Amino acid sequence: MKATPIERDIIDRTIDEFQVADFGRATIREVKAIAAKAEAQSGVEFIKMEMGVPGLPPSAVGVEAEIEALRNGIASLYPDINGLDELKREASRFVKAFVDVDIAPEGCVPVTGSMQGTFASFLTCSQCDPRKDTILFIDPGFPVQKQQLVVMGQKYETFDVYNYRGDRLEEKLESYLSRGNISAIIYSNPNNPSWVCLKDEELRIIGRLATKYDVIVLEDLAYFAMDFRQDLSRPFQPPFQPSVARYTDHYILLISGSKAFSYAGQRIGVSCISDKLYHRAYPGLMQRYGGAGTFGTVFIHRVLYALSSGTSHSAQHALTAMFPAAADGQLDLVLKTSEYARRARLTKEIFRRHGFRIVYDKDQDETVSDGFFYTVGYGGLSSAELLSELLLYGICAISLTATGSRQPGIRVCVSQLNCPE
Ligand SMILES: Cc1ncc(COP(=O)(O)O)c(C=O)c1O
Repeated sequence: MKATPIERDIIDRTIDEFQVADFGRATIREVKAIAAKAEAQSGVEFIKMEMGVPGLPPSAVGVEAEIEALRNGIASLYPDINGLDELKREASRFVKAFVDVDIAPEGCVPVTGSMQGTFASFLTCSQCDPRKDTILFIDPGFPVQKQQLVVMGQKYETFDVYNYRGDRLEEKLESYLSRGNISAIIYSNPNNPSWVCLKDEELRIIGRLATKYDVIVLEDLAYFAMDFRQDLSRPFQPPFQPSVARYTDHYILLISGSKAFSYAGQRIGVSCISDKLYHRAYPGLMQRYGGAGTFGTVFIHRVLYALSSGTSHSAQHALTAMFPAAADGQLDLVLKTSEYARRARLTKEIFRRHGFRIVYDKDQDETVSDGFFYTVGYGGLSSAELLSELLLYGICAISLTATGSRQPGIRVCVSQLNCPE
């Protein structure tokens, strides 16, 4: 058997010890723990390509604003559950500047990261109409979001978008929505893990069908403006971040501070609820909570209140400074994060040179953008086989199976590759 930098025995034993029934479905934290143990036992340093930590320094504007707010005594005060007024105004302006859609400040709600934004959205969407008890994932996707639904005991359905790009998306999507049990659709754009970016025509299909079947769209923009094939950096000028917001009225844009501003540690983002959705009254919400049962008030005053009673005061001050810095052109969102594209370009080349292929390689006829993540496959290896083979070479990634993909391969994350070369 071929000698590898880490002995097969060490990897096999470590996987066994963790009692992961199906290695192809191991969570990021499990793979990380297995690699850490194998690293300690073998003494070989692993290349960490599994976890999406930002890997770039946090935005200085945010850090300064937060320190100042803390010095001014903000830590002793409970934050307003609606969010700081100024943050809500700036979030609304940020959305106008980079997405070119109008969302009133009242609907721009700070959350403790998009993770909380999706949790609160899933919960609220699932309670609007008792017949609509299922969330639909346009996969592949961020595995923890399914975990959130498991935690709250809600149902979900999923399909892999790989074979359903362009016009083909319509029939596939309609086959789910026409059953009448879907409350909300979720996808990320750019997509974690594949980095495919849905095109305007695809977003139009999603928007049109969401309107037809009265379904809420949760557009996860964790990787805001990171389709580096076009320059999305100029505020109030096209091209803008593509969004379903142009094609339907009931949506939530989930904007995270984690990657756009490298602010993951402070757990801050905004959930931007469209004006129509914010004011829409749903019988299910009325019945459960009393009052008018409007989506926006329930989301904030019932759900977020129960989850965390608001969002860290100082982190809100950070975002209040970072949003206008970007919208006024003092902080170039794209310039900083394009470092990820550089790392992806260099490392994809190495994988290709050694016989690997990019699994999700196209947005219809266009090559996918380089960015935070990409996907690779090798020969006829399954996701689990490829993942464990790469561990033998000290490379740690996650399996595509764990992301709802039906394609064999792994997700590579370039964020922790911090060496300049
Ligand atoms: C698609 C997607 N959504 C949401 C998140 C979480 O964002 P946050 O750090 O704001 O909770 C991530 C983070 O990796 C992600 O990849």
